[in-house]
Amino acid sequence: MKIIGISAYYHDSACALIEDGKIIAAAQEERFSRIRHDYSFPKKSLEFCLEFGSVKIEDIDAVVFYDKPWLKFERIVETYYSQVPRGFELFKQGLPIWLKEKIFLEKQIRKFIPSQVPIKFSNHHLSHASSAFFPSPFQNACIITMDGVGEWATTTIGVGSNNKLKLIQQMDYPHSVGLLYSSFTQFAGFKVNSGEYKLMGLAPYGNVNSDRVVKLLELFNEICHVYDDGSIWLNPDYFEYSHSLKMINTTVWEDLLQIKSRPLESELTQEICDFALAAQLFLEKIVLKVATHAKKITGEVNLCLAGGVALNCVANGKLIREKIFDQVWIQPAAGDAGGAVGCALGYYFSLGHVREVMDTDGMQNAYLGPEYNDQQIKNELERLNIKYHEFSEINKYCEAASELIINENVIGWFQGRMEFGPRALGNRSIIATALSESMQSRINLKIKKREGFRPFAPVVMYEDMQKISSSIIDSPYMLITDHINEDLLVGNPVDVEKLSLNEKRALKKSIFPAITHVDKSARFQSLKKEVNEKLHLVLSKVKEKKKWGICVNTSFNVRGEPIVESPLDAISCFFHTDMDCLCIGSFIVHKSEQDEQVVSYFLENSKKFELD
Ligand SMILES: [Fe+2]
Repeated sequence: MKIIGISAYYHDSACALIEDGKIIAAAQEERFSRIRHDYSFPKKSLEFCLEFGSVKIEDIDAVVFYDKPWLKFERIVETYYSQVPRGFELFKQGLPIWLKEKIFLEKQIRKFIPSQVPIKFSNHHLSHASSAFFPSPFQNACIITMDGVGEWATTTIGVGSNNKLKLIQQMDYPHSVGLLYSSFTQFAGFKVNSGEYKLMGLAPYGNVNSDRVVKLLELFNEICHVYDDGSIWLNPDYFEYSHSLKMINTTVWEDLLQIKSRPLESELTQEICDFALAAQLFLEKIVLKVATHAKKITGEVNLCLAGGVALNCVANGKLIREKIFDQVWIQPAAGDAGGAVGCALGYYFSLGHVREVMDTDGMQNAYLGPEYNDQQIKNELERLNIKYHEFSEINKYCEAASELIINENVIGWFQGRMEFGPRALGNRSIIATALSESMQSRINLKIKKREGFRPFAPVVMYEDMQKISSSIIDSPYMLITDHINEDLLVGNPVDVEKLSLNEKRALKKSIFPAITHVDKSARFQSLKKEVNEKLHLVLSKVKEKKKWGICVNTSFNVRGEPIVESPLDAISCFFHTDMDCLCIGSFIVHKSEQDEQVVSYFLENSKKFELD
């Protein structure tokens, strides 16, 4: 039985194909359209899924949409009536789109799906929960989903057992952990719906236990009341999202918190760093309470997580270390894109099909997107007059790549199937040595062209994982932040709290300066040989030469650009940044060997992306 799952019309639209309960293909539309967080109907992703699965749309048994738009509409209308006349402008702006596209969604989808294929509708949080439980390695589990908002629900607790899944408790809009964190994001001067992970990355620059952080945590209770079971009540005096395009009125927050909000893109002050830290700690408090309550009411020992809040790797790390549950599995595409996988799986198992639980998990390391063979890559390189070195042996290829890495070259790494979800996990990545002190600012400023404070995450060969961070057993999806082992750290001066953000960033914190955050943590990806043989071999060769099988692994894109999908995207991104080499398929391209006309062609024709 073949099922297509679709998520669209909010943000991060995506399509997935499953066959007899197995995920065959999945991809986000932004990768093809080159529009970050593209929310339009995932036409190109659908074409890819059908082509990859060698199936025609007429032969699909059902198309499942990830939420129920009319319930969302009901929520918007009800919220409008409860806010009259405050929400009129927002309602007036939103109504034409809702009438044209969203409530008559079936008509929209029908433009792409022939009449003989049934269209089904899931529920937003049921789709998230299904994406968390059905691909998980657990027979039975508790499931927690947390995001901004679906139809009405913003947090749910559910129970999964074999092929059955039931949501047993939910918290509804307007009380939302995701919208609270987005409100913090707006106050700190980052873009809502894309800057949340920057706020998380900024938090470690805050001064722990400082009077300001303690005071902010106390004042946040006025904005958001947290109950013992983790449910929250957001004080409507402090929020605007139900009747305006903004999350909050910053002046009201400034009056309460006695600190200034930060205008977009302006300088980062210690005050804002402390605010980011308090916001992160407040979120963690809620997540831990929800998890404790969920454990109490379900009695399960395993936990599955999804929804946008599950992308907060620092909170995930804390949740795992608290050992509320024996085992935790997090859907790598935890945001709305993952809903496409979830709704398709949810529908399939709702028909009573048997679920096979795998030792690893059903996400296949998130390598669910398109791939390109060597001939296709070679054709593209030759068409563009790019000089390359071709390798017929994987061992020699990885030897050459590792040599480039240890000599401090920054490498574009394009191999195999593209990842599904927001993380690059070693197939569409930028790879560099973790040992260099200048690498973080070089990649941030000259290659990714993004804010200098942002940390980079490492990919670590599985065999070295515990030697680098002893509490992590496995972290295949780069969704857990944890501390680097004490013996690898380099001590801070005593007055570290008095240092500026840039001084803190420049401190050497461990023997892996390029990937160690200011609080001596890192967001780890552990990599097993069977998951990605080529990159694992590179890591083992780096280890032979430099003692540790660890590298920087950041997504292959520049700020505001979706991660590269095709060889042309990769070549273009490579040429208009300061990357040194491109390892693509069986080929290695050195920028220094290229004709000047080739380099200037890409520099002149590079697409500009709107900053995120
Ligand atoms: Fe969601």
